[in-house]
Amino acid sequence: MKNVVSARCGNGVFLRVCRISVCCFLPDGSVKFCGMKKLSVKEALGATNPEDFVLVQGWVRTRRDSKTFSFLEINDGSGLKNLQCVIDENCEGYATLKNATTGASVSVEGSLIPSQGKGQSWEIHATKVEILGIAPENFPLQKKGHTVEFLRTIPHLRARTNRFGAMFRVRSRLAFAVHQFFQDRGFAYVHTPIVTASDCEGAGELFRVTTLPPEGAPKNADGNVDFARDFFARPSFLTVSGQLEAETLACALGKVYTFGPTFRAENSNTSRHASEFWMIEPEMAFCDIHGDIDVAEALIKYLVSDILKNCPDEIEFFNKFVDKTLRERLEHVVEKPFVRVSYTEAVEILQKSGEKFEFPIVWGEGLQSEHERFLTEKHFQSPVAVYDYPREAKPFYMRQNDDGKTVAATDLLVPGIGEIVGGSQREERLEKLLAAMEEHGLSEKDYSWYVDLRRFGSVPHAGFGLGFERMLMFVTGEGNIRDVIPFPRTPGHA
Ligand code: 4AD
Ligand code: MG
Repeated sequence: MKNVVSARCGNGVFLRVCRISVCCFLPDGSVKFCGMKKLSVKEALGATNPEDFVLVQGWVRTRRDSKTFSFLEINDGSGLKNLQCVIDENCEGYATLKNATTGASVSVEGSLIPSQGKGQSWEIHATKVEILGIAPENFPLQKKGHTVEFLRTIPHLRARTNRFGAMFRVRSRLAFAVHQFFQDRGFAYVHTPIVTASDCEGAGELFRVTTLPPEGAPKNADGNVDFARDFFARPSFLTVSGQLEAETLACALGKVYTFGPTFRAENSNTSRHASEFWMIEPEMAFCDIHGDIDVAEALIKYLVSDILKNCPDEIEFFNKFVDKTLRERLEHVVEKPFVRVSYTEAVEILQKSGEKFEFPIVWGEGLQSEHERFLTEKHFQSPVAVYDYPREAKPFYMRQNDDGKTVAATDLLVPGIGEIVGGSQREERLEKLLAAMEEHGLSEKDYSWYVDLRRFGSVPHAGFGLGFERMLMFVTGEGNIRDVIPFPRTPGHA
């Protein structure tokens, strides 16, 4: 082996120094790696002491050359800031630097020292640089300033930009914070099926899962496709919500939550709808609609404060380049209690508002997005939980109120997005549930397991769904759902 020096240094410790590392072979047979220290860019920039023998690896953002040395700005995705590497003619690999163009991947070894230049606290004085992968002129991100629309056409590369790198770090942290919120409060994380035979929301927006051939599928006596001969021996779909199954687990474990992908074959080409999105669905036994809204409010406040605290660079970036009112809005969300109004009060406010809406406001019909946004953005200028909706517009499982006209449902509306949470107290009374199922044309046989919850130890219970992508749009100010998920699926795009 080249460049290897070995020495015995007493107490049976055998020290071996090779080109990139120093290893101690300890008497107990273990090996302690104590040479080149691999640091992420974020770790290097947050250092407290200078350090020799460090290794950093990443992608070149820029290179500036002078006669006898170069500055290489590298980023490895660990944070927004780049690490400056100073590479002079004595550095091994200096001659290969011409290949270190924007987007190339590099490995840099050297010393981490306080920077004399402006804009960064630490920099690397390199002793060795190696180009791992070149990025020739046709690398689409060689130039800055691409539109988000263009970047959507290269989802496999866009995470290397500041904007999308920041987004996906926030996405990761937000997912972690969701788990932390529920785990700290005694909720059990449950996994509900992705493939299901039931349409929870009753809206018929289901993607079918089948192994039957598109042509020549077996037919039954009525001439319809015979799904009894399909893979699951019945019509099966991708889930639109894990709620119904989560209810069974809440009625056993008390407090549960799901956090998983959901699918909707809804032909909505808006900036807030995706065909595949992630949803967080808590479900609580012994809980009513007001307790449900309390949890939704606490969750949203917790998630916003967590991101403000743990992603300060990213929030600063979004506040500067995407939405200048972001930070102020988020701080308000954390500080102020959310507004709560009944649907009937909300309709009165809208009718008296004097606003010109495209859709008329009629008691009994769902609120349109323009109505929701008026309430949260103009009238209350705050997140608003609207509750007690007319039962006609809502799914079978929601609890009927005593007025006979409304159900204990809630939608939580936030500025810039509109609906971010949809939830309800569930109908726990057997007779009422059976009647509602009949009205919605659902067979008791197909939902016997769901009905059983009302037969055996039924309890008041409630839950909601928080759209994870909509929450990400809310905390970053990003206006299009296509830009908060790495590989968006929308009608016509997969
Ligand atoms: O209001 P939704 O349809 O409620 C349910 O699915 C209930 N089963 C939830 C429950 O009570 N456990 O959906 C809940 C949330 C919406 O408020 C929205 O944030 C998000 O899911 N959502 C979507 N997000 C992105 N794209 C879509 N197509 C969405 N549809 C709903
Ligand atoms: Mg909804």
